[in-house]
Amino acid sequence: MVRDITVRHAGSDQIKSDFRGKDIVSLDQFDIESLALLFQVVPRMRAIAINSRPSDILSGILASLIFYEPSTRTRCSFEAAINQLGGRAMVIENPQQFSSFAKGESLEDAICTYEAYCDLIVLRHREDGAALRAANVATRVPVFNAGDGTREHPTQALLDLFTVYEQHERLDGLTGLFVGDIKHGRTVHSLLKGLSLFPRNTAYLMSPTELALDFDHLKELQRLGLTIKAIEDQNRMPNHCDFIYCTRIQKERMSLEVYDRVKDNFIITSVFMRHFSDPKMILMHPLPRVNEIHTEVDADPRAVYLTSQIRNGMYVRMALAALVFDQIPKEWEIPGLPE
Ligand code: NCD
Repeated sequence: MVRDITVRHAGSDQIKSDFRGKDIVSLDQFDIESLALLFQVVPRMRAIAINSRPSDILSGILASLIFYEPSTRTRCSFEAAINQLGGRAMVIENPQQFSSFAKGESLEDAICTYEAYCDLIVLRHREDGAALRAANVATRVPVFNAGDGTREHPTQALLDLFTVYEQHERLDGLTGLFVGDIKHGRTVHSLLKGLSLFPRNTAYLMSPTELALDFDHLKELQRLGLTIKAIEDQNRMPNHCDFIYCTRIQKERMSLEVYDRVKDNFIITSVFMRHFSDPKMILMHPLPRVNEIHTEVDADPRAVYLTSQIRNGMYVRMALAALVFDQIPKEWEIPGLPE
């Protein structure tokens, strides 16, 4: 049976290597030490997932997965993660249509209700800041942000950082090429914040002008120490990078006119991939992909978007839940865990 997590928290609390009872709302809550702790737990979760013996680490935990926007990987990987650890998940399908949202109920009232029934809330929402609002209402249970608005998708960024770390065994001194919708891509925004925690990282942001990172956002990341080079032309790509992070053009967040103009500006093909000779480079994508990576690229061993990147999503979410519910077995002897 899971121990009671009685630690009270505010939605934006720093993790500071102590995940117990905390909400996971933004990458702003993380520092290098907390990432290092999380990344030590992830391989343990992989071992549980590939082992057919059941785990009871989260037995007694009921998670509500509330997705106001469509999702395949984030929702299923959370559900799988909770189940893998012996907990149960209640998936609220299409709340915009089938919950009292359709009658005009506020997010706050809906969250109070879900909180009454469960031990963990996982929320995806269309509005910026929705997860923090939910976390500030649900003071009895942790809230995980499964992507809100265009700003944050912290659990995706954590799995992306883990995927880069697994490949390069470090998260500093890296060069990443980001391609696609840099303006609206919440996965990109959270990942850039994560990279800015480490020294000497450089991000090339390649997008059509309409989809470039907002100026204030760019300045903030530079202030945090990230070197940013915004480019609009493939001829200005670096010759070397450690990872490429390709994203979907977020059709639902722009006018059709803009979408039609920008949708096929950058398409990753085998020819594109030949520009980069480093066999250690990886090509990532949070998915779903629409047209931005040609399927011929899927067979490139450097393409990880349909393989390890997806699997890491489940392992990282398992690790986060186990840490937040303070259920890391003592015998794992994970250094840096709070007493
Ligand atoms: C992304 C999202 O929802 O932000 N997908 C994901 O969660 N893996 C990316 C997208 O929708 O383009």
